[in-house]
Amino acid sequence: MPTFRAPRGTRDLLPPERARFIRLERLGADLAARYGFRPIETPLFEQAAVFERGVGAVTDVVEKELFRLATRRDEGEEWALRPEPTAGIVRAYVQHAMQTWPQPVRLSATGPMFRYDRPQAGRYRQFWQWDVEVLGDPGPAVDAELIEMAVRFFAEAGLAPPDVLVNSIGDGECRPAYVEALAAYYRDRLDRLPPLERDRLDRNPLRLLDSKEPVMVELNIGAPTITDRLCDACAAHFASVRDHLDMLGIGYAVEPRLVRGLDYYTRTAFEFFPSGARGTQSALGGGGRYDRLVELLGGKPTAGIGFGLGLDRVLLALDAAGAPTLPEPSVLAVVVGADPGATAVRLKLATDLRAAGLAVRADLAQRKLGRQLEAAVRDGARFAVIVGDELAEGQVQLRDLGAASQKPVDVVDLTALLRRKSAP
Ligand code: HAM
Repeated sequence: MPTFRAPRGTRDLLPPERARFIRLERLGADLAARYGFRPIETPLFEQAAVFERGVGAVTDVVEKELFRLATRRDEGEEWALRPEPTAGIVRAYVQHAMQTWPQPVRLSATGPMFRYDRPQAGRYRQFWQWDVEVLGDPGPAVDAELIEMAVRFFAEAGLAPPDVLVNSIGDGECRPAYVEALAAYYRDRLDRLPPLERDRLDRNPLRLLDSKEPVMVELNIGAPTITDRLCDACAAHFASVRDHLDMLGIGYAVEPRLVRGLDYYTRTAFEFFPSGARGTQSALGGGGRYDRLVELLGGKPTAGIGFGLGLDRVLLALDAAGAPTLPEPSVLAVVVGADPGATAVRLKLATDLRAAGLAVRADLAQRKLGRQLEAAVRDGARFAVIVGDELAEGQVQLRDLGAASQKPVDVVDLTALLRRKSAP
């Protein structure tokens, strides 16, 4: 047993897996640019109040799963690792007066999130999200635009079309009466509620609807739904989101009990599941509208909507679908030499080739030429540049490792020759 291990619920992304992550991160960045989003980066930790107020104090994410950092006596601030990016991005929107920028502001970020959850398959304490947010657009068209964008991400990542679940969870106009009806339903069944749910009943009845407790899942089948209690404005908004989705040819199902686990949502809410696995805990992503969040975090009333996709889960879904593993990028050439000790010559040559933009490794391990060549083949390099006595005449041997053939090349021509060979 090694002395130290990665903390429970976290994992090291070793090169093959990291390469697969990088591919998804690039896909996210590429799609974000294609859809007119600008990149943003916010800190991995924030004042805990950003999440308590933004995500909601009576949510699993804050009440049970927030990674709080020990308060430093000299600063007196309470910090927490971010469990999700939306609250931090909205905090930044307010802090940097982005409401004075041309609206809407479209922002995208990718990075690790932290939730102190019970680790299990697909549920980690550190996981990665690709996230997009649109501030200053009340919709409904942008709601459909984002759902289509997420669906495109899955398709371009190589996944079968996911199950898309959508709902509207109303707004300040229609939700209070619904929450009251919901609370009454649970109060009538008080004896069946587990302790946490009973405790939350008075504080945040909506959270009982997304409880994962088996008894709650059963109880929730008969719970009143909001979809048929929406006010006219919310109902019209939701109908228009669905019209836009139909027009885009996006298949979806209305799920009247989808309320999401974070408090900031209003109106449109949506979630993506691997095809055929809806309702499980394996959501590939989710999002929705949060028209009150900017105000809640101290800004002027501003509409907002966004989504976050779980990159770890996308990779798991790709594995489950038997997606081929990715070839890792390899160097084009390795500079090797007959004299194991002549490391300076090999390093200088590799440095010049790298400066010209080529991917080149120098073998600096001071081993025999045969071992250096074996290592170059193992690296997947296409060429070995063999430095020997001919260097005095300005020449090296260029060995094609695939064809096992080699020829002398003037060092002055080497860069141009390798560049031609590396062209696709
Ligand atoms: P969320 O549904 O809490 O939403 O998380 C989004 C996705 O992150 C989930 O669907 C899942 O794929 C992934 N995820 C969440 N927790 C874990 C975990 N413990 N391990 C692995 N993957 C996980 C949000 O975070 C919102 N900020 C989305 C959003 C953006 N809404 C509006 N804008």
